[in-house]
Amino acid sequence: MISTGRNAALAGRPEGLEQLRGLLDTVLGTLGDAALKRGGPLAPGGPQAAVAAVDEVLGGGRFLADEPSAQRVTELFEAYAAWAVDLTHPSAAARMQCAPTAASAAAELLAATLNQSLHAWESGPFALELERRLIQEMASLVGFGAEAGGTLTPGGSISNLMALLFSRDRALKDTGEVSATGLAGRQVRPRVLCSAAAHFSVARAAGFLGLGRSAVVKVPVDDRGRMIADEARRIVEGFDADEVPVAIVATAGTTDHGSFDPLPELADLAAEYGTWLHVDAAYGIGALFSPKLAPLLDGLGRADSVAFDLHKFGWTPASSSVVVVRDRRHMECLDEQAVYLNPSDDEALGFTALLGTSLQTTRRSDALKMAATFLTVGREGMGDWVEACHDQARYAASVIAATDSLELVADPLLTTVIFRCVPEEGTSVADENAWNAAVRRKLMADGRALLARTKITGPDGTPSVHLKLVFLNPTTTEDDIDTLLTDITAAARETAGQGATQY
Ligand SMILES: Cc1ncc(COP(=O)(O)O)c(C=O)c1O
Repeated sequence: MISTGRNAALAGRPEGLEQLRGLLDTVLGTLGDAALKRGGPLAPGGPQAAVAAVDEVLGGGRFLADEPSAQRVTELFEAYAAWAVDLTHPSAAARMQCAPTAASAAAELLAATLNQSLHAWESGPFALELERRLIQEMASLVGFGAEAGGTLTPGGSISNLMALLFSRDRALKDTGEVSATGLAGRQVRPRVLCSAAAHFSVARAAGFLGLGRSAVVKVPVDDRGRMIADEARRIVEGFDADEVPVAIVATAGTTDHGSFDPLPELADLAAEYGTWLHVDAAYGIGALFSPKLAPLLDGLGRADSVAFDLHKFGWTPASSSVVVVRDRRHMECLDEQAVYLNPSDDEALGFTALLGTSLQTTRRSDALKMAATFLTVGREGMGDWVEACHDQARYAASVIAATDSLELVADPLLTTVIFRCVPEEGTSVADENAWNAAVRRKLMADGRALLARTKITGPDGTPSVHLKLVFLNPTTTEDDIDTLLTDITAAARETAGQGATQY
């Protein structure tokens, strides 16, 4: 029996734990029921049905209810599970959003119940040490040594932002600490190089950091979205005297093709100009776990910083993002001495926390769930899972290539497959871009399959709408992939006559 109102239980107290046990049964039952009822990766009905589902749970009332009710919590859980995207479903292939391991989900319950924080020693001493050790191990995983540092962050976008913050402060140090004095009055034009296929968070970070989005120079890419190292060199060599190359951002695992920028060449270039090399391996980190794919990341250890997300390709719940730096002294701009949190005499005696490694103050413990996945799956298991996903992508590509009504863009490099629907022999559609977009929306609204979309520029220079599959579920089988592709071609046929014009 769940108590409510002023008698509602706190999770960690004995009565709370008792109620948690009951609630856990409810949650597990709800998860099981939702999976049984759902025919696909998502409930059907599209945006209107999702809005209606929330309306129904609220019943015209508010969250901050006048009449607290345990029953409404159960209904909320049921609706949430019924309307969740089932990331374990083989046709959930849209986003870089993996299904977490059972151990990491249990770790989240433990972390939430205990609600430790990393900003003061007395907020969570074990959690603090756990993150320190995890960061050390992650730094050595990418090839950094004992001087390395880093932090866990809420996502790849924030990890990229932090890396660019460190690079900005190092590059512009000659004219005074930017974190201390700001950017105004500096007679330099900062420049950040990244490829035309880099994630948008790089340009946003440049904007937030006062460098301006206009500081970002997009280096041309080859037909698979790989930065052309010679072009990067040409750009740096052509800089005027007041143009300061703050950072070269290489992408290891681009969002569309999953391609890897040439790290060794970019590391050479960065070393030559004393420029910070940041590697955005948000998605590509998966390759590092697989002996077969790890060579894609050769040169990673020569970076100054690396960002990666285990909530993308590491089977932990979001947020599980890591940014590591080769030399932790570059994180000094985050140092903070707050009398109420970390007095220096406490720190001198070892009562230290991680306030000075993060943009946040109160910060949850993400290390626990990451440790839980690593400990249960193990290094070899992680590699096997990554390779399973890579094989799935290759299989899907081979089926697409052999299907007349689908057109493959290229063989997969990691675990994404880009393709588009093409009219069957003897048929035509008025607007193939609109049609492809409509096929994806139909599959989403029917709850049959979830795919991503993107634009790919063809040999004639014209960008066109394409569809993308992202494989991150090691349990998906070839039969599952056949079903997914059959659903896509069926939806394409059903949509072909409908004259879609919007995309
Ligand atoms: C290459 C790359 N970097 C960074 C990000 C941003 O990561 P997050 O969504 O965790 O902020 C993404 C997201 O897809 C990505 O593909």
